[in-house]
Amino acid sequence: MKYFLDSAKIDEIREAYDTFGIDGITTNPKHIMNSGKPFLTVIAQLSDFVKEKGVEGWEAFPISVEINPHLDDADEMVAMGKKIAAMSPNFVIKIPCTLAGVTAARRLELAGVRTNLTLVFSASQALIAAKNGSLFVSPFIGWKEASGENCEEYIQDIVDIYANYGFLGKTQIICAAVRTGKQFVDCAAAGADIVTAGLQVFKDSFYHPFTDYGLKRFQEAWDNTITE
Ligand code: E4P
Repeated sequence: MKYFLDSAKIDEIREAYDTFGIDGITTNPKHIMNSGKPFLTVIAQLSDFVKEKGVEGWEAFPISVEINPHLDDADEMVAMGKKIAAMSPNFVIKIPCTLAGVTAARRLELAGVRTNLTLVFSASQALIAAKNGSLFVSPFIGWKEASGENCEEYIQDIVDIYANYGFLGKTQIICAAVRTGKQFVDCAAAGADIVTAGLQVFKDSFYHPFTDYGLKRFQEAWDNTITE
Protein backbone atom coordinates (compact mmCIF):
# COMPACT_ATOMS: atom_id res chain seq x y z
CA MET A 1 0.00 0.00 0.00
CA LYS A 2 1.33 3.41 -0.96
CA TYR A 3 1.44 6.39 1.38
CA PHE A 4 0.48 9.86 0.21
CA LEU A 5 0.86 12.94 2.37
CA ASP A 6 -2.26 15.09 2.61
CA SER A 7 -0.66 18.53 2.84
CA ALA A 8 0.42 21.60 0.90
CA LYS A 9 3.17 22.61 3.35
CA ILE A 10 6.57 22.12 1.77
CA ASP A 11 8.37 21.57 5.11
CA GLU A 12 5.91 18.77 6.01
CA ILE A 13 6.29 17.26 2.54
CA ARG A 14 10.08 17.20 2.88
CA GLU A 15 9.89 15.57 6.32
CA ALA A 16 7.36 12.95 5.19
CA TYR A 17 9.44 12.19 2.08
CA ASP A 18 12.65 11.75 4.05
CA THR A 19 11.12 9.84 6.98
CA PHE A 20 8.25 7.79 5.62
CA GLY A 21 9.19 7.59 1.93
CA ILE A 22 5.83 8.93 0.81
CA ASP A 23 4.82 8.00 -2.72
CA GLY A 24 2.81 11.10 -3.59
CA ILE A 25 0.88 14.10 -2.28
CA THR A 26 -2.76 15.06 -2.10
CA THR A 27 -3.75 18.66 -1.57
CA ASN A 28 -7.09 20.38 -1.29
CA PRO A 29 -8.17 24.05 -1.02
CA LYS A 30 -8.02 23.83 2.79
CA HIS A 31 -4.43 22.59 2.76
CA ILE A 32 -3.42 25.33 0.30
CA MET A 33 -5.05 27.93 2.58
CA ASN A 34 -3.31 26.44 5.65
CA SER A 35 0.08 26.72 3.92
CA GLY A 36 -0.37 30.49 4.21
CA LYS A 37 0.91 30.94 0.66
CA PRO A 38 -0.81 31.93 -2.58
CA PHE A 39 -2.13 29.06 -4.74
CA LEU A 40 0.40 29.62 -7.52
CA THR A 41 3.32 29.81 -5.06
CA VAL A 42 2.36 26.42 -3.60
CA ILE A 43 2.01 24.97 -7.10
CA ALA A 44 5.48 26.25 -8.01
CA GLN A 45 7.00 24.82 -4.80
CA LEU A 46 5.47 21.41 -5.50
CA SER A 47 6.70 21.50 -9.06
CA ASP A 48 10.24 22.41 -7.91
CA PHE A 49 10.18 19.69 -5.24
CA VAL A 50 9.68 16.83 -7.72
CA LYS A 51 12.46 18.19 -9.93
CA GLU A 52 14.81 18.41 -6.93
CA LYS A 53 14.03 14.82 -5.91
CA GLY A 54 14.18 13.46 -9.45
CA VAL A 55 10.64 12.12 -9.36
CA GLU A 56 9.07 13.95 -12.28
CA GLY A 57 5.84 12.69 -13.81
CA TRP A 58 2.59 11.51 -12.25
CA GLU A 59 3.68 7.89 -12.66
CA ALA A 60 6.67 8.51 -10.34
CA PHE A 61 5.14 10.87 -7.79
CA PRO A 62 1.54 11.99 -8.29
CA ILE A 63 0.42 15.28 -6.76
CA SER A 64 -3.32 15.86 -6.64
CA VAL A 65 -4.33 19.50 -7.07
CA GLU A 66 -7.96 20.45 -6.72
CA ILE A 67 -9.78 22.77 -9.11
CA ASN A 68 -11.77 25.75 -7.86
CA PRO A 69 -14.48 24.09 -5.73
CA HIS A 70 -17.03 26.75 -6.79
CA LEU A 71 -17.05 25.49 -10.37
CA ASP A 72 -20.20 23.58 -11.27
CA ASP A 73 -19.96 23.60 -15.05
CA ALA A 74 -18.11 20.73 -16.74
CA ASP A 75 -16.61 22.97 -19.46
CA GLU A 76 -15.14 25.32 -16.87
CA MET A 77 -13.88 22.38 -14.80
CA VAL A 78 -12.15 20.89 -17.85
CA ALA A 79 -10.59 24.24 -18.74
CA MET A 80 -9.21 24.77 -15.23
CA GLY A 81 -8.07 21.13 -15.00
CA LYS A 82 -6.11 21.44 -18.24
CA LYS A 83 -4.56 24.71 -17.07
CA ILE A 84 -3.33 23.20 -13.78
CA ALA A 85 -2.17 19.97 -15.43
CA ALA A 86 -0.02 21.99 -17.86
CA MET A 87 1.95 23.40 -14.90
CA SER A 88 3.64 20.13 -13.94
CA PRO A 89 3.71 16.57 -15.34
CA ASN A 90 3.14 15.39 -11.74
CA PHE A 91 -0.22 17.10 -11.33
CA VAL A 92 -3.34 14.98 -11.15
CA ILE A 93 -6.56 16.99 -11.21
CA LYS A 94 -8.78 16.56 -8.20
CA ILE A 95 -12.44 16.93 -9.05
CA PRO A 96 -15.49 16.68 -6.78
CA CYS A 97 -17.80 13.70 -7.21
CA THR A 98 -20.73 15.67 -8.62
CA LEU A 99 -22.49 15.10 -11.96
CA ALA A 100 -20.55 17.99 -13.53
CA GLY A 101 -17.41 16.66 -11.84
CA VAL A 102 -17.64 13.13 -13.25
CA THR A 103 -18.45 14.58 -16.68
CA ALA A 104 -15.36 16.77 -16.50
CA ALA A 105 -13.19 13.92 -15.16
CA ARG A 106 -14.28 11.66 -18.02
CA ARG A 107 -13.43 14.35 -20.56
CA LEU A 108 -10.08 15.14 -18.96
CA GLU A 109 -9.09 11.46 -18.92
CA LEU A 110 -10.05 11.16 -22.60
CA ALA A 111 -7.82 14.20 -23.25
CA GLY A 112 -4.90 12.55 -21.40
CA VAL A 113 -5.17 14.53 -18.16
CA ARG A 114 -5.19 12.26 -15.11
CA THR A 115 -7.85 12.80 -12.47
CA ASN A 116 -8.66 12.06 -8.86
CA LEU A 117 -12.37 11.91 -8.05
CA THR A 118 -12.72 13.28 -4.54
CA LEU A 119 -15.45 13.60 -1.90
CA VAL A 120 -16.53 10.01 -2.56
CA PHE A 121 -18.78 8.58 0.13
CA SER A 122 -20.33 5.48 -1.44
CA ALA A 123 -19.23 2.42 -3.39
CA SER A 124 -21.67 3.36 -6.17
CA GLN A 125 -19.91 6.71 -6.58
CA ALA A 126 -16.57 4.86 -6.65
CA LEU A 127 -17.84 2.61 -9.43
CA ILE A 128 -18.51 5.62 -11.68
CA ALA A 129 -14.98 6.93 -11.08
CA ALA A 130 -13.61 3.63 -12.37
CA LYS A 131 -16.00 3.37 -15.33
CA ASN A 132 -14.94 6.87 -16.39
CA GLY A 133 -11.26 5.95 -16.19
CA SER A 134 -10.12 8.23 -13.36
CA LEU A 135 -6.59 7.45 -12.19
CA PHE A 136 -7.63 7.81 -8.55
CA VAL A 137 -10.78 7.59 -6.50
CA SER A 138 -10.80 9.09 -3.01
CA PRO A 139 -13.31 7.51 -0.64
CA PHE A 140 -13.26 9.53 2.60
CA ILE A 141 -12.82 7.29 5.60
CA GLY A 142 -12.27 9.65 8.53
CA TRP A 143 -15.37 11.74 7.91
CA LYS A 144 -17.64 8.71 7.74
CA GLU A 145 -16.16 7.12 10.85
CA ALA A 146 -16.39 10.46 12.68
CA SER A 147 -20.12 10.36 12.03
CA GLY A 148 -20.41 6.87 13.51
CA GLU A 149 -20.00 4.61 10.47
CA ASN A 150 -17.63 1.67 10.38
CA CYS A 151 -15.72 1.83 7.08
CA GLU A 152 -14.21 -1.66 6.92
CA GLU A 153 -17.06 -2.96 4.75
CA TYR A 154 -17.13 0.25 2.72
CA ILE A 155 -13.46 -0.08 1.73
CA GLN A 156 -13.76 -3.83 1.16
CA ASP A 157 -16.80 -3.34 -1.10
CA ILE A 158 -14.92 -0.89 -3.32
CA VAL A 159 -11.89 -3.21 -3.55
CA ASP A 160 -14.13 -6.22 -4.34
CA ILE A 161 -16.21 -4.35 -6.93
CA TYR A 162 -13.05 -3.11 -8.66
CA ALA A 163 -11.63 -6.65 -8.63
CA ASN A 164 -14.87 -8.07 -10.09
CA TYR A 165 -14.70 -5.80 -13.12
CA GLY A 166 -10.98 -5.45 -13.78
CA PHE A 167 -10.69 -1.90 -12.42
CA LEU A 168 -8.27 -2.78 -9.62
CA GLY A 169 -4.99 -0.93 -10.13
CA LYS A 170 -6.35 1.03 -13.14
CA THR A 171 -8.37 3.33 -10.91
CA GLN A 172 -6.33 3.34 -7.73
CA ILE A 173 -8.19 3.58 -4.44
CA ILE A 174 -6.90 6.37 -2.18
CA CYS A 175 -8.43 5.98 1.26
CA ALA A 176 -8.65 9.64 2.23
CA ALA A 177 -9.00 11.63 5.44
CA VAL A 178 -7.39 8.75 7.33
CA ARG A 179 -7.02 9.65 11.01
CA THR A 180 -5.75 6.59 12.90
CA GLY A 181 -3.39 3.65 12.74
CA LYS A 182 -6.44 1.36 12.93
CA GLN A 183 -7.75 2.93 9.73
CA PHE A 184 -4.35 2.39 8.05
CA VAL A 185 -4.59 -1.28 8.95
CA ASP A 186 -8.23 -1.53 7.79
CA CYS A 187 -7.28 -0.02 4.43
CA ALA A 188 -4.26 -2.30 4.01
CA ALA A 189 -6.21 -5.41 5.06
CA ALA A 190 -8.93 -4.62 2.52
CA GLY A 191 -6.33 -4.22 -0.24
CA ALA A 192 -6.67 -0.48 -0.88
CA ASP A 193 -3.93 0.90 -3.12
CA ILE A 194 -3.10 4.05 -1.16
CA VAL A 195 -3.81 5.93 2.05
CA THR A 196 -3.50 9.67 2.37
CA ALA A 197 -3.16 11.35 5.74
CA GLY A 198 -1.57 14.29 7.51
CA LEU A 199 1.98 14.09 8.86
CA GLN A 200 0.89 13.80 12.49
CA VAL A 201 -1.36 10.83 11.63
CA PHE A 202 1.64 9.01 10.13
CA LYS A 203 3.67 9.80 13.25
CA ASP A 204 0.90 8.72 15.65
CA SER A 205 0.24 5.49 13.75
CA PHE A 206 3.94 4.66 13.91
CA TYR A 207 4.40 5.42 17.60
CA HIS A 208 4.29 2.60 20.16
CA PRO A 209 5.19 3.16 23.86
CA PHE A 210 6.69 -0.34 24.13
CA THR A 211 9.35 0.69 21.59
CA ASP A 212 10.45 3.49 23.95
CA TYR A 213 10.15 1.17 26.95
CA GLY A 214 12.24 -1.52 25.24
CA LEU A 215 14.84 0.99 24.12
CA LYS A 216 15.24 2.24 27.69
CA ARG A 217 15.77 -1.32 28.95
CA PHE A 218 18.40 -1.99 26.31
CA GLN A 219 20.13 1.31 27.10
CA GLU A 220 20.30 0.32 30.77
CA ALA A 221 21.74 -3.08 29.81
CA TRP A 222 24.27 -1.40 27.53
CA ASP A 223 25.32 0.96 30.33
CA ASN A 224 25.80 -1.96 32.72
CA THR A 225 27.92 -4.04 30.36
CA ILE A 226 31.70 -3.88 30.21
CA THR A 227 32.77 -3.33 26.63
CA GLU A 228 36.13 -5.11 26.81
C1 E4P B 1 -8.09 13.86 0.58
O1 E4P B 1 -7.63 13.72 -0.50
C2 E4P B 1 -8.44 15.14 1.19
O2 E4P B 1 -7.48 16.09 0.85
C3 E4P B 1 -8.53 15.08 2.67
O3 E4P B 1 -8.42 13.84 3.18
C4 E4P B 1 -9.68 15.87 3.16
O4 E4P B 1 -10.02 15.64 4.45
P1 E4P B 1 -9.41 16.25 5.76
O5 E4P B 1 -8.79 17.58 5.42
O6 E4P B 1 -10.57 16.38 6.69
O7 E4P B 1 -8.39 15.26 6.22
